[in-house]
Amino acid sequence: MSNVYVMDHPLIQHKISYIRREDTGSKDFRQMIGEVAALMCYEATRDLKLQDVKIKTPICEMIGKELSGKKMAVVPILRAGIGMVDGILNMIPAAKVGHIGLYRDPETFEPVEYYCKLPADCGERDVFVVDPMLATGGSCVAAIQMLKDKGVKNIRFMCIIAAPEGVERLQKEHPDVDVYVGALDEYLNEHKYIVPGLGDAGDRIFGTK
Ligand code: PRP
Ligand code: URA
Repeated sequence: MSNVYVMDHPLIQHKISYIRREDTGSKDFRQMIGEVAALMCYEATRDLKLQDVKIKTPICEMIGKELSGKKMAVVPILRAGIGMVDGILNMIPAAKVGHIGLYRDPETFEPVEYYCKLPADCGERDVFVVDPMLATGGSCVAAIQMLKDKGVKNIRFMCIIAAPEGVERLQKEHPDVDVYVGALDEYLNEHKYIVPGLGDAGDRIFGTK
């Protein structure tokens, strides 16, 4: 799993345990999803390229560093991915935001597309696709394919909890995509929910259950 990075930072692990708890309410759940997303973004951007820039401090001139390379975009998979956006924008405020709407058919577990709105120049941007949950992998595989069809070349996927089945499928279908995972769980149950997981991320973020 050479391009799968499981984040072992203590703050990330601590906050994930908090959101897993069934007695964590929507307000705290939402806040922690945002905080975990920000910490994961920090870790997942370690390889961004820098260039020298001449700046002047109140004391003297110096050669500082600034980000070089392509501009970025963050694309949440609706609904639950929305919970991760603010945390990432706190780290990368200049990123543009696209939205891909997919839901899992409750019978087939296959993703159904209902919305897609991307930055007009998304083909020239490096894109972070975000969704708290990677279960069967159907949703993220479809979202990434939609982006590739629009000409996006450099794609990273970030999720908070993943099942091994989903990671395997994502790697098989999109081996070029780097995958950042907060916690790699055990397996999928008969309803294709991640075990131990955290339940339904969208319902817990938006308080719909
Ligand atoms: C959840 C989750 C992912 C998807 C993961 O969304 O947020 O998008 O399921 O499952 P998969 O890997 O098997 O495709 P859901 O379809 O429940 O929609 P929601 O975000 O609107 O709740
Ligand atoms: N979607 C969720 O929100 N949770 C799971 O465990 C699987 C899919």
